[in-house]
Amino acid sequence: MINYINIFTYINSINMSQKKITLKKNLEEKESNSSSSEESNSESNSSSSEESDSESNSSSSEESNSESNSSSSEESNSESNSSSSEESERESNSSSSEENNNKTFVLNDIKIYNEDCLDVIEKFEDNSIDCVITDPPYFLDKLDNNWDSKKIKKDKANSHITHLPKGMKFDKDQVKKLYEFYLKLSVLLYKKLKPGGFFLSFSSPRLYHAIAMATEIAGFEIRDMINWVYSTSMPKGMSVARSIKTLKVSSEKKDELLEFYSNFKTPMIKSCFEPICVATKPRVDTYLNNELNFKTGLIDFSHKVGDNKVPANIITTEPIIDFYDKNFIVNKETKKEKGKYNTHLSVKPLKLIEHLLLLFSKKDSVVLDPFLGSGTTALACKNTGRKHIGIEMNKDYYEICKKRLQD
Ligand SMILES: C[S@@+](CC[C@H](N)C(=O)[O-])C[C@H]1O[C@@H](n2cnc3c(N)ncnc32)[C@H](O)[C@@H]1O
Repeated sequence: MINYINIFTYINSINMSQKKITLKKNLEEKESNSSSSEESNSESNSSSSEESDSESNSSSSEESNSESNSSSSEESNSESNSSSSEESERESNSSSSEENNNKTFVLNDIKIYNEDCLDVIEKFEDNSIDCVITDPPYFLDKLDNNWDSKKIKKDKANSHITHLPKGMKFDKDQVKKLYEFYLKLSVLLYKKLKPGGFFLSFSSPRLYHAIAMATEIAGFEIRDMINWVYSTSMPKGMSVARSIKTLKVSSEKKDELLEFYSNFKTPMIKSCFEPICVATKPRVDTYLNNELNFKTGLIDFSHKVGDNKVPANIITTEPIIDFYDKNFIVNKETKKEKGKYNTHLSVKPLKLIEHLLLLFSKKDSVVLDPFLGSGTTALACKNTGRKHIGIEMNKDYYEICKKRLQD
C-alpha cells in the first residue's frame, strides 16, 4: 500500500508541475493584456499572500478572510434566482435522444451513460470537467461497484440479518476495497477536472477516511468536510440476546445474562449524519487568476440557507430544531421529486444536491456524477442550469434516471 501511495504522489507531482508551466504561460499572456493598472496592483498584492497559502499553514487566515468578506463583498451573482422565463424557454426547447445502442441518453445539456464509470471517464478530455459531485457505492455487503439490485433482493445469505436492509452487514475488507477502487477513480478524475475544480464525495462516518485518503493521495486537496444532518435513520446496533440464547450455560445463567445485557447492542450508534468530503484539484496560480482562467475554485456565497444565513459545513434538509432550522436548512424535499417508480435504495434529496451545485459550481459548468443512481444529480443540474454528465452502470437505475429527467 505504501509503495502504491508513493508512486501516485510522485506521478501527481510531476503531472502538476508540467501542467503548471503550460497554464502559467497562458495566465501570463492573459495578465499582460490586462488594462487597468489598479487591478494589476491589487492582483500582485493578493497573489503574494495567496501564493504562499498552502492548506497546512494558512487555513486560519484564509478562513477568516472568506468569513469577513462573505457578507460585504459578495459578488452580485444571483444565480439561484435564475429567471423563470429562462427556465421555461429551456423547457420548450428540450429534445432528447438515445445513442450508442441505448447506452447513452441525451436531453439538452445532460448526457447520461449506462456503463462502468471508469471506462467512460477515461475517454474524456483532460481538464474538461468543472465539478464532480457523487454518492459512491460504499462497498457494504453487495452494494459495491457491481451493485445489482435484482441480485441484492434475492440474496438471503446474510445469516441472522436477512430481515434488515442490504448494506447493514459490515465486510471486514470493505474499507480496503473502497479505498483501492476510489483511488483508481480519483486518479482518473484528477486528470479530467480543471485546476481548482471541486470534487465532492458523499460517504459514511465509518468510511469517510477511505474516501478522503484516496482523494488526497490522488493529488486533490481536502478543503472541508460537510455534514448532512438528519434526524430519522434506522438504528443499526443489534441485540446480543440471540447469541446469549445459544450459549451452553444453565437457563438461570442465560436469564441473568439476558437481563443484564438487555440494553447493550453491537457498537453501531444510530447514525444521523453523512460526511461529504470536499476536495479541489490544486489551483494554478492565485485563487483569482485560477478563477479568471478556468472559472473554478471559488464558492458562491450569494446562495443563502435557513434564515438568510451564509452557507455552513452543516446542512439539513428537514426541520430539526430551531437553531438548526435557522442556520443550516436548505429547502425541504417533497416525495414527488423522487418519483413513485424510483426503486433505488439510496436516493439523495434533490434540494441537497441543488444546494451543493449552487455553492460549488456555476451556471453552465460541466458537472459530472460517476455514480448517478436514480439520477438526482442530473435532475438537480437540469433545475439549476448546469451541463451534466452522469454515469450509472445498472440498467434499471439508468432507466429510472431517464424517466425522472423526462417527467
Ligand atoms: C449510492 S448510489 C447513488 C444514488 C444517487 N445519489 C441517487 O440519488 O439516486 C451509487 C450508484 O453507483 C452505481 N455504481 C456502482 N459502481 C459503478 C460503476 N463502476 N460505474 C457506474 N455506476 C456504478 C450503483 O449501481 C448505484 O446506483
